[in-house]
Amino acid sequence: MKASVTKGGASRGAPAYDRVRTTRFLLPGQTDHCLLANAKSIGNVMRNSAKISYTNGDGAEVNAELYSDEGYALMSKLWIKVTAQQRRQYEISWLGVPTIQFPEDVVLLQELIWRLRPDVIVECGIAHGGSLLLYATICEVIGHGKIVGVDVEIRKYNRVAIQAHPLADRIKLIEGSSIDPDTVAQVEAHCRGAGRVLVLLDSNHSRDHVAQELEAYSRLVTPGSYLVAMDGAQALVHDIPAGKPEWKNDNPLAAIHDFVGRREDFEIDQHFNRLGATSNIDGFLYRKPIQALVGELLPAS
Ligand SMILES: C[S@@+](CC[C@H](N)C(=O)[O-])C[C@H]1O[C@@H](n2cnc3c(N)ncnc32)[C@H](O)[C@@H]1O
Repeated sequence: MKASVTKGGASRGAPAYDRVRTTRFLLPGQTDHCLLANAKSIGNVMRNSAKISYTNGDGAEVNAELYSDEGYALMSKLWIKVTAQQRRQYEISWLGVPTIQFPEDVVLLQELIWRLRPDVIVECGIAHGGSLLLYATICEVIGHGKIVGVDVEIRKYNRVAIQAHPLADRIKLIEGSSIDPDTVAQVEAHCRGAGRVLVLLDSNHSRDHVAQELEAYSRLVTPGSYLVAMDGAQALVHDIPAGKPEWKNDNPLAAIHDFVGRREDFEIDQHFNRLGATSNIDGFLYRKPIQALVGELLPAS
């Protein structure tokens, strides 16, 4: 079944000024300089047309006008492939602790947390803990929220570094497989009574594991919040020199599409994929509020 996608890249639950791309962050009477700059650059595109062409690992050729939406999409895909090949996502840190993310994704996760202001953020797959600290930083600025981090193996030096960090008070660590019922029960205990729960899945990226995580953690996500399944881009990097052919089908994206194809209560929000260069393709799953679901199920009068 086809994945469901929010129309027009709009993000539900966002303040009105944030829904329309060109008027975002504008106060009444302000000029949209981005819009003006865009109009100018579209004029330049007409004069400076350029083509881009790429031959993939199967010998198929893809062509696009570079300064177009198609060109942007193709360049984004190529950027993901080259970045993964060179393992550049392993090079950044947050407040001194490594995090395995693309910088674009760090900014978008910040946008989501700032907007949602969750009571609890759950992350499965914490590695060194840099992403936990990123979420804790935003909660600290907001003055609200705790983070529950789950990993099958929390190495001693990572645990020590997280627990010694100035933001440690906001973080709870749970060691265990994210799909072990005992782990899920521990996470659930931390979420009990919370008005808004955000869940991020960034552990084992096999299709089967992500499918099990989506099932186990979807019920913890409060309506109006998000279940973020990361690393769908694994589907794009099966044919890079460092990739594995089995990733073509065995990846989080396949699990995401299965999940939203079955579940009426979740839909993909493309707003958080608008930068193209993302590891989290189709990964932001918005849990519809109850009223929206009731509206969809009622026959049209
Ligand atoms: C991609 S890294 C996480 C990166 C981290 N979120 C960040 O942004 O820096 C994946 C992590 O998932 C953990 N992992 C693998 N299998 C797991 C499982 N079954 N349950 C929980 N964590 C698991 C690994 O130990 C590893 O630390």
